[in-house]
Amino acid sequence: MRILFCASHTKAAPWLDALRAALPGADVQEWQPGAPAAEHAVVWSPPQQFFDEQPGLKVIFNMGAGVDALLSLELPRDALVVRLDDAGMSVQMAEFVCHAVIRHFRELDQYARDVAVGRWSYRRPRARADYPVGIMGLGVLGERVARAVAQFEFPVRGWSRSPKAIPGVQCYAGAEELDEFLAATRILVCLLPLTPDTADILNRRTLSQLIPGAYVVNVARGGHLVDEDLLALLDEGHIAGATLDVFREEPLPRDHAFWRHEAITVTPHTSARTLREETVAQIVDKIHALGRGEAIAGVVDRQRGY
Ligand code: NAP
Ligand code: GLV
Repeated sequence: MRILFCASHTKAAPWLDALRAALPGADVQEWQPGAPAAEHAVVWSPPQQFFDEQPGLKVIFNMGAGVDALLSLELPRDALVVRLDDAGMSVQMAEFVCHAVIRHFRELDQYARDVAVGRWSYRRPRARADYPVGIMGLGVLGERVARAVAQFEFPVRGWSRSPKAIPGVQCYAGAEELDEFLAATRILVCLLPLTPDTADILNRRTLSQLIPGAYVVNVARGGHLVDEDLLALLDEGHIAGATLDVFREEPLPRDHAFWRHEAITVTPHTSARTLREETVAQIVDKIHALGRGEAIAGVVDRQRGY
């Protein structure tokens, strides 16, 4: 079996070592232009040239959960595209989102500012019931996040394409229930895949429907958020603040207003990182399962876009 590894912004050597150790019979190589044909690929943001040169690929393993960048390329028509299915990401996402929600709810940024100038100040405790948290996307990551936030006894809502039943979470589904979901949400968390249906979904129309004094946590993709609509709603006071981990252009350009806005917390696309050990173990298990002719989880529906 021949496996090509092609991942931009990633040091290849430790990945090649880990894949070779887990698949002793396989020929695992880093892709170079002109490399001989392979049936399997492990990729993150590969160039189009990679797929142009490898039309015989049968399985493409994406080293992340989101496949928006991958699906924007022209891929071998019949290749199976497999995304990361948790692989240690959901617990990271749960801790990141709970931290953002609690930091906002408990006004920890304001306390930090007071402490920085030596002020011993108390704020009136907020009522949890006034801060319902709405999770857009109830997939592998969204469901884990919804359950984690519910542990802190916030009212939790969730929105997905197909109907769900999750204990402790009031679930809404489909475009027809989006407005109802938004109107019942004050802290909005985006964990949707970026597809033609979800691009620009965080815009003036949708964000205006949130309970006033809303807070936005975008940990999905920058393409979900219309930046200028968020900035305008912050200026108008409808939105109180935001934690943004993902951006239309990454790294976030130095002159972007998000860097300087005092109500916006910026993190550098780090809410749920790809973990090498877990990722290699998952890919190797799936290679073995496919070899035995078994179905695997995490196969992307290329038509649907996730
Ligand atoms: P997933 O398992 O595919 O879940 C996607 C969820 O979104 C599903 O519940 C799906 O509904 C819902 N959805 C999709 N299209 C929708 C639509 N048009 N309307 C309503 N709901 C829709 O994905 P995941 O593993 O949870 O990951 C979600 C996203 O997180 C990834 O695509 C990626 O962009 C992002 N991510 C970010 C980071 C980071 O570090 N910032 C790390 C990992 C992932 P159904 O359940 O009905 O299909
Ligand atoms: C990271 O953003 C991922 O999609 O895994």
